[in-house]
This record gives sequence, structure tokens and C-alpha cells, in this order.
Amino acid sequence: MSETQSMLKNSQEIRKLSPGSSFKAIFVVSSLFQKNDKNGKPYYEISVTDSCGTLEAKIWSDANWFDRSDPTMEPSAPAQKLPDEKLMSVIGSTVGTDGKTTEFRGQLQFNFNKLTLLDQEQFPPSQYLPRSPIPIEDLVSRYEELVSSCRPEISNFIRSVYEGDTWKQFRDWPAAVSHHHAYANGLLEHTLSVTDCAKSMAESLRISGYDIDVDIVVAGGLLHDLGKLESYKMTSIPEMTLEGAVLDHIALGYSKFMELAKEKGLDNSIKLQLAHILLSHHGQREYGSPVVPATPEAFVVSAADELDFRVFCWKDSVKDLTEDQPISQWHAATARRFWNR
Ligand SMILES: [Fe+2]
Ligand SMILES: [Fe+2]
Repeated sequence: MSETQSMLKNSQEIRKLSPGSSFKAIFVVSSLFQKNDKNGKPYYEISVTDSCGTLEAKIWSDANWFDRSDPTMEPSAPAQKLPDEKLMSVIGSTVGTDGKTTEFRGQLQFNFNKLTLLDQEQFPPSQYLPRSPIPIEDLVSRYEELVSSCRPEISNFIRSVYEGDTWKQFRDWPAAVSHHHAYANGLLEHTLSVTDCAKSMAESLRISGYDIDVDIVVAGGLLHDLGKLESYKMTSIPEMTLEGAVLDHIALGYSKFMELAKEKGLDNSIKLQLAHILLSHHGQREYGSPVVPATPEAFVVSAADELDFRVFCWKDSVKDLTEDQPISQWHAATARRFWNR
């Protein structure tokens, strides 16, 4: 690591600095809006992301913008000024920033006084973005194990759904744009957590004498959020697609699943049971499911989906709590405060 790189701070460290501190950091730009200050001078509101989170900052009119995006440029060569017409091209790109913290109305504010558009090959945005805390190799081997545990008719179908580009998206996509698992590999992490949990519940119910098809539960778990592949996209940050916004992942997933089941000649009874899980997995009509779960297999998938969502929100909410403050702020999506016992 070079001396400059070792001086770099991440968003979490920057948030803990005291007012008046200077910092250097590398971020991916999520958004950039031009505004005017009270004297009519233009300034920018910028939102930047790194692997630790997001930071909102201001760029005043006296800030310097540089361009080091040309890979053929000598590292020692003086940086060129970034032309005004290229300012918006920083969105989705990696930038080097020099900044300072100030206090404004009792809150810490972040100002960038120098921004440098970096060589995107050398500093690929994907390397600086949040991703699942679970290593991708572990996620992939858990997925393989779950698929292989099903009878061939079902495992072959799942493998044919998640192949080629669809597999790459399923592996890399976020599970949401906010609320839960909103980072690279988040969809796979959430899907596996739901499936593992639903499988354990199904096995327990079977031991207790209930008639439940564990393979249908595993397939239902692995496919339940199939529609999210069309609902989200991972440019440099998780974003919702137009289809995701106006059709939602339950309808998108059902229609994709029916198309694939027909194309692959999936058995009718299996097709209907899985389609029912996809449509009912939000558990209630007011949560977006057009039908409520009506089979033991659908009960456990929707219960595991809700459980994973709640536990994730708990984990995310309590991470910044202290011993003196063990109760979280109001969490609107789950309608509760969380407790770090
Ligand atoms: Fe869902
Ligand atoms: Fe889900």
C-alpha cells in the first residue's frame, strides 16, 4: 500500500472525525446535483459511496475538479482540470477526494475541496462498493449444496433457471435498493438465508409428522425473489428498474417463472406449487402478494422471508448502538424499535 493510500479514510472513519478535520478518500459517486447558495453562487450536493456506506457532502464553487481518468497518463504528470461539461460524468465513477469536516447547526458537515476523476480500470467502481459480508465462494457453495439436495427433476429445473447471464445477475444483484441487503451479492445472500431457514423449518415439521415436501420448499426458497433480477440493476449502485417500479418483483417473478416452466416442460403439479410460493411469499395481500400462502411449503417460505428481513433490519439497526443507548430509532419498515440486548 502506498503512503497516500494508507492515509485514505473510509466513510465510517470520516463520520467520526471532529469538526475542522481534513481527510482524503476514494468514493464512487452516486448522485450529483447543482444548487445555488444564498448569494446565488452555484455549488453541488454530492452523494458518495464506499464499502462502508454512504456520505452526503457539499462541493462549494471554489473547489477544484481534476481529471486523471486517462490510463496512458504518467502518474507524475500534473492533473488536468476536469472540463465543466464532464462534471456529470463522475456519476457512477470512482473519484479521489480531499475534504474537510465542519459543523453546521450542531451537525457534522462534509465539504470536498478537491475531486479527481480516477482511471476507472485501475480503480474499478465495483471494488469500492458495499457487498455482502459473506465471501462469494461461501455463498456459491451453499447454493450448490441446496440445489443438489433436491430430486433431479427439481434440481435440473433450478439449474436451468440460473444459468449464463441470469446466474451472473443472481450472484451479483442486490436484494433491494434500501431496507435490506442493498449491496452487491445481497440477493444471493438473502435467498440462501431464506432457503436454509425454510428448509430447516420444513425438516422439523416433517419430523413432527406433517406432510411437507422439502424439495419444493428448497426450490420455492431459491426462486421466491426471481423477479428481483428484473426489478433491480447494479450499475455502480443498486437501482430500481422501470419494470421494478411499475410491475414489482412478485408479478415479474411469476411471469418469468411461468415462461421458463413452460419452456423447460416442468411437471404441472410442481409448476403450480412453485408458482403459488412465488405469488404468496409476502404472506399478506397488503404486503403485495395477490394470494396468501395456502400450503405448508408456502407457509415456511413466506415465514422465512419475513424472518430474514426482520433479523437483517435488527442487525443493521443495532450495529451503531451503544451500551447507554441500547434501543434503536423507530424503524418504519418493520414498525418497531430494535433492542441490542
Ligand atoms: Fe420478495
Ligand atoms: Fe425475499
